[in-house]
Amino acid sequence: MKQNLILIGFMGAGKTTIGKLFAKQYGLPLVDTDQLITEKAGMTIPEIFEYRGEEVFRQYETQVLKELFAENGGAVISVGGGLPLREENRRILRQLGLVIYLDITNDTVWNRLRGQTGRPLLEGEHAEQKIAELLSLRRPIYEQAAHQTICADAKSPAAIVEELREMAGDIL
Ligand code: S3P
Repeated sequence: MKQNLILIGFMGAGKTTIGKLFAKQYGLPLVDTDQLITEKAGMTIPEIFEYRGEEVFRQYETQVLKELFAENGGAVISVGGGLPLREENRRILRQLGLVIYLDITNDTVWNRLRGQTGRPLLEGEHAEQKIAELLSLRRPIYEQAAHQTICADAKSPAAIVEELREMAGDIL
């Protein structure tokens, strides 16, 4: 199996946007775990959280990740922000390819996501505080899961794609 290029990071880090751009620029297939889950479940992510609960969503994440072993590799894989939280998932991610963490600050998350819907973990009041809490819990986990980190604050998507290309040069 060829190595994949895997993008991890918090909600709003640009995993999907950067993944799409990179895949288009280098003619690679793009895989988005949230999209695979939505197709498998036949429901949106907010619906899965509401009707089945977060734990079921997390099971879907592990399931779709395992299914990627059956693919040829050589793809750009963008994963949901909470997927690397499970130790098992982190292990699988590193077996699937080169794992890059797109790191952004609390303020960037807030500025990008305020007013948006569709992310159950940030629904309701005090979203800004939830972002700060979740990100400080998760940052060490993302750092542990990744082979390399890109600081994705205040950079254009094109500049981030260029940095990624330098990191991924050996495997793609
Ligand atoms: C989640 C991130 C979301 C989505 C779900 C849970 C999380 O994906 O998987 O809402 O736990 O951080 P994005 O990171 O693409 O927003």
